[in-house]
Amino acid sequence: MSITLSILYLIATITFIIGLKLLGHPETAKKGNLIAASGMGLAIIGTIFLHELEVSNFIYALIGGSILFGAIIGWLIAIKVEMTKMPELVSLFNGFGGASAALIGIVEFGHNLGNTTQIIPIIAAIVIGSITFSGSMIAWAKLNGTMWKDIRLPKYNIINNLFFLGLLIFSAFIVWSNTNSNLIVYGLLLAALVYGVLFVIPIGGADMPVVISLLNSLTGIAAAITGVLYGNMVMIVGGILVGSAGLILTFAMCVAMNRSLANVIFGAFGGDETAPAENGKKGGTIRKTNPSDVAVMMNYSDKVIIVPGYGLAVAQAQHVIHELEELLTKKGVEVSYAIHPVAGRMPGHMNVLLAESNVDYDKLIDMDDINPQFSNTDVVLVVGANDVVNPAAHNDPASPIYGMPILDVENAKSIIINKRTMNPGYAGIENELFFNQKTSMLFGDAKATIQELLSELKGMQ
Ligand code: TAP
Repeated sequence: MSITLSILYLIATITFIIGLKLLGHPETAKKGNLIAASGMGLAIIGTIFLHELEVSNFIYALIGGSILFGAIIGWLIAIKVEMTKMPELVSLFNGFGGASAALIGIVEFGHNLGNTTQIIPIIAAIVIGSITFSGSMIAWAKLNGTMWKDIRLPKYNIINNLFFLGLLIFSAFIVWSNTNSNLIVYGLLLAALVYGVLFVIPIGGADMPVVISLLNSLTGIAAAITGVLYGNMVMIVGGILVGSAGLILTFAMCVAMNRSLANVIFGAFGGDETAPAENGKKGGTIRKTNPSDVAVMMNYSDKVIIVPGYGLAVAQAQHVIHELEELLTKKGVEVSYAIHPVAGRMPGHMNVLLAESNVDYDKLIDMDDINPQFSNTDVVLVVGANDVVNPAAHNDPASPIYGMPILDVENAKSIIINKRTMNPGYAGIENELFFNQKTSMLFGDAKATIQELLSELKGMQ
């Protein structure tokens, strides 16, 4: 490898690390993304033009054409995608990453027949890449509603584990026998693809983001393994960073939902089998309110906390909620947002959403810091959130969300809940907070309702 290429790879590696660090805060995330992407661009250009192999012009044209084609499609998809569809897009990208690793494995198997040192990374790339590809495609289909059922074969855990064991034995056999049969390797590819499907198909809808994060981590590992195959440092480091970041995120989400990873993979929470409104305390009477009454309450409050949830994202109410916050602040009310780590449908969903409407980052307060503040809060406005404020997590050991840390909104003096109906949230369970003496339900679409609330407040002294 030329010294220039080594230096380019080193620069690219540094940009990945800096980029990842900057991604840790919403204010610097965009910059971090750009820096890491530029590093990746450098690494790709360096690999194409500074590689020592003789490459024909036709191959250059093929590579250039593919990059252009892929870049245009990726760009168009990325600028069009709605924020709530982001996990689907990430899932697709993971799948393509896995497919690339598997294809590299297949191609390199042909190039390395009889090479006993390369066969291990080749087989690992084929197996991990294929599982990631087919698993991500199923995750994508589930998230966009194409596949709406969680299919669980009887004793699916045993079937899946036996299949996985079989896959490991099959891989070990190929390595040990040093076979040069393409047919056997295609058989392994097919078996790994089937396992990817079996692995993701029973997992409940609400757990999909956790699985996507896990598959994202596998994509990184597959990339790192192909890096080992080529002795390419930038692929190894990039892959390891993606692999470890994905794994950390996976565990962080599990902790925020108080679930173990095994429970997510083998459990049924969030699947279609969870009967809505059957868990938790049974009903009671609710109190309805309207924007005009809520406006009066807020106008005379000292402190208001807004709890955003998935419904805020669906309604695209982030701009109007920011306007409300600004108006209240002008009126001398102290306003902040309570951010639950798994509110919405993807990690950091609420932060990204509110950043879009230029909400001051200092006003976004994490769960652990905001929870002690609810007791001296006059009004809590819950907008399109449900599970993350469900006291069943504290009170009902039979509830599937029991033990999940929640925002303790019931400690506030008054609770206003804005949603459209009495329907449950993603976990499919009733929320006893709706029947609390201090709660008033403000029914309606978040954007339209907060807009009305804003108009009422504007007309008040
Ligand atoms: P949810 O519990 O899903 O509740 C969202 C509520 O928004 C629904 O009850 C819905 O009620 C309401 N809604 C929907 N559209 C609306 C609209 N246009 N206007 C007003 N309200 C609307 O949301 P959450 O509290 O944010 O909790 C997130 C859930 O997702 C948790 O169970 C969490 O474990 C799960 N989850 C999250 C993640 C990540 S990483 N964020 C990952 C895995 C799982 P109506 O239909 O009555 O309006």
